[in-house]
Amino acid sequence: MTKKDFISLADFTQSELEQIIALAFKLKKEPHSLIAANKHLAMIFEKSSTRTRISFEVAINQLGGKAVILNTQDMQLGRGETIADTAKILSRYVDLIMIRANKHQDVITLAESADIPVINGLTDFNHPCQLLTDIFTYIEHKGSIKDKLVAWLGDGNNMCNSWLNAALIFGFRLNLAIAKGYYPDQNLLARARAANLVNIYEDAKSAAKDADLITTDTWVSMGDQDSAARKEAFSKFQVTEELMSLAKADAIFMHCLPAHRGEEVTAEVIDGRQSVVFTEAENRLHVQKAIISFLLSNK
Ligand code: CP
Ligand code: NVA
Repeated sequence: MTKKDFISLADFTQSELEQIIALAFKLKKEPHSLIAANKHLAMIFEKSSTRTRISFEVAINQLGGKAVILNTQDMQLGRGETIADTAKILSRYVDLIMIRANKHQDVITLAESADIPVINGLTDFNHPCQLLTDIFTYIEHKGSIKDKLVAWLGDGNNMCNSWLNAALIFGFRLNLAIAKGYYPDQNLLARARAANLVNIYEDAKSAAKDADLITTDTWVSMGDQDSAARKEAFSKFQVTEELMSLAKADAIFMHCLPAHRGEEVTAEVIDGRQSVVFTEAENRLHVQKAIISFLLSNK
């Protein structure tokens, strides 16, 4: 069997992703297994992380394996050793690689040169582990996401691209309220538009109306230039209680975290009754265990 990587949700069929989600529900109930007994997961970080790093380490431990955590600056990779050589070396030592990288292409290059599965733990382009977790979290709270309405507010960043990918696979509608000049990936947007799944709004209220889920992310992603102009451009897309009141009465609020209360979301919303952000963060653990299990069984 050829090895399978986890680089984008678009590389999977809906049925494969549903298989991973079903396994994640099972692993949430029964956390310990020996699916990855004696397997080693190398984790490479080119940028900061709290949730991804901890949840992957706990995940591989609960599956009977071990993690090796690497920062690029401590590796020869940070001194110019090629990604391809690094991939070949890691393939001789460990069984899986998770990488959080600045450039999406670097993850693709790593996967092409590695004999073992590579998991994308966030790039400038997307964040598939988070998005699959978000779909899991939606299903856990509200059932199937098909034909539901998701409102995304703020920046057309890596998370927004991942929501577009997910809409194309799971068949939900996406309302985007995004500042001009900060639109998501043009190809993804065109595909979602062709499938009649996406609408772009200039005002947050129209996007939030009747939504089943409201979600947002930081206005300054890792690698972005933090500027007053940037925050000004996003200021009218803040998720407030007033905005939540326009969504369906049982709508939920999600955020991949880390959050900036008073910027993209008010404290009242993120700490309020409709917010599921801490369960969403917990679910990274369960879903990533399922991703690891799926990739190991496909190797
Ligand atoms: N949501 C997420 O990926 O969080 P970290 O940056 O803390 O890993
Ligand atoms: N868009 C954010 C997500 C962090 C998990 C970033 O890339 O920094």
